[in-house]
Amino acid sequence: EELTIIRKFEHIEHCLKRNVQAHVTNGFEDVHFVHMSLPEIDKDEIDLSVEFLGRKFDYPIFIAGMTGGTKGSQLAGRINKTLAKAAQELNIPMGVGSQRAMIRKPETWESYYVRDVAPDVFLVGNLGAPQFSETIRERYGLEEALKAVETIQADALAIHMNPLQESVQPEGDTQYRGVLKALAELKAEFPYPIIAKETGAGVSMEVAVRLESIGIDAIDVGGLGGTSWSGVEYYRAKDEIGRDLALRFWDWGIKTAISVAEVRYATELPIIATGGMRDGIAMAKALAMGATFAGVALPLLKPAVKGDVEGVIKILRRYIEEIRNAMFLVGARNVEELRKVPLVITGFTREWLEQRIDLPSYLRNRG
Ligand code: FNR
Repeated sequence: EELTIIRKFEHIEHCLKRNVQAHVTNGFEDVHFVHMSLPEIDKDEIDLSVEFLGRKFDYPIFIAGMTGGTKGSQLAGRINKTLAKAAQELNIPMGVGSQRAMIRKPETWESYYVRDVAPDVFLVGNLGAPQFSETIRERYGLEEALKAVETIQADALAIHMNPLQESVQPEGDTQYRGVLKALAELKAEFPYPIIAKETGAGVSMEVAVRLESIGIDAIDVGGLGGTSWSGVEYYRAKDEIGRDLALRFWDWGIKTAISVAEVRYATELPIIATGGMRDGIAMAKALAMGATFAGVALPLLKPAVKGDVEGVIKILRRYIEEIRNAMFLVGARNVEELRKVPLVITGFTREWLEQRIDLPSYLRNRG
């Protein structure tokens, strides 16, 4: 039982001290804006706000869920409260990390609780998809989902899909049978929006279509090219077989840029583009490709661990100014207009998408 809690702590330590990023890019280097010499707008009039699940946000950036329930709940609590203060200040949404530890040990709830410092933040709770499978011993349903959201006064619930990570760790939950059916049942009764999120291996259009068909409200593509959970498990592996397996799958998955295109092409769901988003130009490309938000996790961890709210805000403001500048240089006054500017897709991303979707039709209609 202590295991989950220790595991979480190890994850944060590895994320801080080692290189846990994918060795491959997230694909946005293959996506190009066409520079506009006559933007015909004033940079000052650019509006970066977006709407999502009935709420309006000042900037199209989402702080992706990372933690909670660690041993010494102080660490996780500090991280979440620091991120929450930044999110409150900027009026952007944020998620917390997996609440499995809280379901098991209700006394860890405070490490997820941020309402005292962020009364208005759009907050997203977090549970894992394997917990909803029909074969898992510790099976969750409506009760646990409600507990996750209501204990921390969240506005929505994220269900993380992480078969890659679970499959390369010795103690992993590799039971995934019946998850879709269980989520469909949950969705029918659950009064809060549900966001299905990957955690670094991307969401295909096939999976996205299924999620849309059961009424899931949004998808965080959590694509390949940023934090690699197989990479994290590589450092945690106890023997050579485990290390070899994790190393082999370090760069497994669908790149973030590709996943955004597939999900936008095949569904109408709002998209959060997470996975290796490290600058505002890539973020602007994700928005132009049809995402509502760019999501960020790893870069915010370092200042958040130190309780450095200004440090978190500084990074986010840099992204915001870069997004704004990119929008100016393509003449987009707002995100809606950004989805109409021409995009050129080259290289690996183009080759992939040409085999998977009607690329010209997607490029014409990314709204
Ligand atoms: C994560 N992520 C994550 N996701 C989730 O749904 N539940 C979780 O508990 C966690 N925990 C977690 C811890 C840490 C330290 C990191 C860095 C990340 C995944 C995260 O939300 C995101 O999808 C990926 O990290 C990809 O984004 P970046 O890190 O490449 O910006």
